[in-house]
Amino acid sequence: MSGPRPIVLDCDPGHDDALAILLAHGSPAVELLAITTVAGNQTLEKTTLNARRVCTVAGIRDVPVAAGCARPLRRPLTTAAQIHGASGLDGADFDEPTVPLSDRPAVELLVETVMDRPGEVTLVPTGPLTNIAMAVRREPGIVSRVREVVLMGGAFTRGNVTPAAEFNIAVDPEAAAVVFEAGWPLTMVGLDLTHQALATPAVLERIEAVGTAPARTMGRLLRFFGDAYRREAGLASPPVHDPCAVARVIRPELVEVVDAFVAVETEGRWTSGMTVTDFRGTLGRPPNAQVATRLDVAGFWDLIIEALARVGAPPAGRGPVATA
Ligand code: RIB
Ligand code: CA
Repeated sequence: MSGPRPIVLDCDPGHDDALAILLAHGSPAVELLAITTVAGNQTLEKTTLNARRVCTVAGIRDVPVAAGCARPLRRPLTTAAQIHGASGLDGADFDEPTVPLSDRPAVELLVETVMDRPGEVTLVPTGPLTNIAMAVRREPGIVSRVREVVLMGGAFTRGNVTPAAEFNIAVDPEAAAVVFEAGWPLTMVGLDLTHQALATPAVLERIEAVGTAPARTMGRLLRFFGDAYRREAGLASPPVHDPCAVARVIRPELVEVVDAFVAVETEGRWTSGMTVTDFRGTLGRPPNAQVATRLDVAGFWDLIIEALARVGAPPAGRGPVATA
């Protein structure tokens, strides 16, 4: 039986990134090797502080938190305060974080972590792909040594920041193009999948019924997140995008995928940041990604609740190690 699957979570907390961190930490099927932060939902300073806040609340003490790129490869930074608030994690109060910031730059830590464990490490980006692209540029050898990239980003139907583009890709299309063209095993968990993961009132009640401090904090955050999605997107319940990528790593059978060729548009006047997805080979290019299509919604939320019940529980409560 294989042990927990080692991952690096590259994120821009961000409400759904916060849930992704708790899911990863609360699941015995994955080993969280590092958390790296990137500018996206908010500035790098804020996403990094938020990652430390979430780790403090969750009692994550042994995972380095390293700050990455403060701006996209070529474009000015676009943030999402209208969804995540001025802090990037509005809706709950946090004490001063006790989890320190690593003195290692994120890109350096990413490269070293992968190179030290060839074939073992899965990268799980849930923000703009700037750090990942910079890591490939710094050490192209990581492409053949990474086990897989499972990213939250993109869409094969329609975007959220423009009709064509999803936020993580739209913020840094040049970085996304590097990641999709690298040639490594890649799974795209896009909006088509994540909009099946809606934090409905019934889900919020299940989360809050877990009764731990981390779960109560997550409940408050998701209520803020839900208000923002109702106001800004007209959605009754908010889609929790980022945990879907982590769920694919933990229990792949929860997320159905289809092979496709995906190209990132970096030039389009109306389509910049679009993940052009070819399921039928009409572009004459072989598949470079597995694209997530269908979520086992009940199984996904059961996974979330099971993980939350372990976060903040005594070590004995973490249960047996499941295989990934
Ligand atoms: O489009 C949704 C994605 O953009 C999520 O990762 C959210 O956290 C934001 O980063
Ligand atoms: Ca994110």
